[in-house]
Amino acid sequence: MDAKLFQSRHEALVQQAENALRDLTPLADARPARLHAAMRYSLDAGGKRLRPVLCLASAAAFSPSADARYAATALECIHTYSLIHDDLPCMDNSDLRRGRPSCHKAFDEATALLAGDALQPLAFELIATGYAANPALATDLVRELAVTAGSTLLVGGQTEDMGGLAAGPSTDRLEYILLGKTAAMLSASFAMGALVGGASPADVERFRQAGRAAGIAFQLVDDELDLTADATQLGKPVGADVQNGKMTYASLHGLAAGRQRIDALTAEAITHLRASQSDSEFLIELVTRMAGRRN
Ligand code: IPE
Ligand code: IPE
Ligand code: MG
Ligand code: MG
Ligand code: MG
Repeated sequence: MDAKLFQSRHEALVQQAENALRDLTPLADARPARLHAAMRYSLDAGGKRLRPVLCLASAAAFSPSADARYAATALECIHTYSLIHDDLPCMDNSDLRRGRPSCHKAFDEATALLAGDALQPLAFELIATGYAANPALATDLVRELAVTAGSTLLVGGQTEDMGGLAAGPSTDRLEYILLGKTAAMLSASFAMGALVGGASPADVERFRQAGRAAGIAFQLVDDELDLTADATQLGKPVGADVQNGKMTYASLHGLAAGRQRIDALTAEAITHLRASQSDSEFLIELVTRMAGRRN
């Protein structure tokens, strides 16, 4: 895809995601103001908005009859909650997020915990209200997001991640972590977009698989950047994985093997997208660029 065309489409989708996030979530001064200020602080801090962009673009790759902004915003709410909790002292103990002090540093631990708590039901409220006219779609989206954010995927992956290298190196556990804590949310972003787009069940599954492969690659890049980038560029601390004794692909197999796997997974994601009956040129370009990102 032409680089200029990609860039203008990407910027438009990020803007759409930002606008939806601003318009569909509570104002900072709603009561209790400290809670809502903390939610807004973390939501408004920027970030790449990758999950909402993937969701919006996946819907647009088909023929959406519903508004994908609700599903996109719900995904960013769950993602932002997971970052707030991930940074807490009892988890990764990280003071910097999206180029600013982490939520528990800007506020306090209890407020950060509660802001994360509140972002979770907000995601499901957005889906229930946004797709009230299409209950079958709403049910599919709730199930997709609930399973993804639940104990066997996002929270399960975070749980096994906490064991780190001290729990003993294990490729089986590493794969569980990669899929659960990260790839599942990217997979859901593609699948929920496809659902809103009215894709056939076979194409929803192709998008889910594409997201799974691209999502594992995404975490491998995250782990690589923790070793090779700088904090200003990333907007979060570097060297944190070694410091926290985390088990990553690089710690088990080295950076070069990680790179090879990133390329293979990216090719796999593109194969799934190409096999679908959709206009997926933009997504193919985005998945390609995700593999080479530097932030
Ligand atoms: C960070 O996600 C957490 C991971 C799953 C690696 P992002 O790199 O998408 O973070 P933001 O949203 O751009 O801040
Ligand atoms: C976290 O993985 C994934 C989630 C927040 C669910 P990391 O702990 O590697 O993410 P960063 O590096 O802090 O963004
Ligand atoms: Mg973590
Ligand atoms: Mg972390
Ligand atoms: Mg990381």
